[in-house]
Amino acid sequence: MATVHEMDHPLIKHKLALMRDKTTGVKEFREAAAEIAMLMCYEATRDLPLKEITIETPVAEARVQVISGKKIALVPILRAGLGMVEGILEMIPAAKVGHIGLYRNPETLQPIEYYCKLPNDIEDRDVLLLDPMLATGGSAIAAIDGLKRRGVKHIKLMNLIGAPEGVAAVQKAHPDVEIFVAGIDEKLNDHGYIVPGLGDAGDRIFGTK
Ligand code: PRP
Ligand code: URA
Repeated sequence: MATVHEMDHPLIKHKLALMRDKTTGVKEFREAAAEIAMLMCYEATRDLPLKEITIETPVAEARVQVISGKKIALVPILRAGLGMVEGILEMIPAAKVGHIGLYRNPETLQPIEYYCKLPNDIEDRDVLLLDPMLATGGSAIAAIDGLKRRGVKHIKLMNLIGAPEGVAAVQKAHPDVEIFVAGIDEKLNDHGYIVPGLGDAGDRIFGTK
């Protein structure tokens, strides 16, 4: 079963509270999304391999540890996932960025891939898949299916808010994918919205409501 890492940090809880508040404006909402993503990056990259090198400090020679050239790709699910990219690039500036676009068939509610542009060497990269909301899990599962079809072997899913239903669905469909989520909420409502959640993440990030 995939491991679920729910963040437990005062800074993340505080910024998530700001995002949930319906009176928070676009600028603050967008900034909080980027900042939480940056903070979560700390946990999601905890297992990056290190190598030892020798450098000169102003005082002496020293053996130090640096990241051993692991290749990472960020893949936001369009469109709301874009709101997490900037914060993570602050921490991993050399990461390449791919994009996956999904929409839901209004009758079947099944997610349909309408866009996918990934780095050429995506099979050799570890992917951080980004989407603020994990509701039914349909979008995340379809995105992971798409990445695996294209040869990706290591995927971590990063969400700001997850519903228990979505977390369970991803765990069942993709037990190898670790989930990093800032907060897990109570439930989904009849319209597939997370309760209490924060509303429509894409609309709030881009001011389209
Ligand atoms: C939202 C969100 C996820 C999806 C989650 O996207 O950003 O991608 O819903 O729902 P699910 O877990 O039930 O699939 P939306 O379809 O609203 O598109 P948007 O990002 O363009 O606003
Ligand atoms: N997508 C959102 O943006 N919000 C939800 O609560 C559920 C899906």
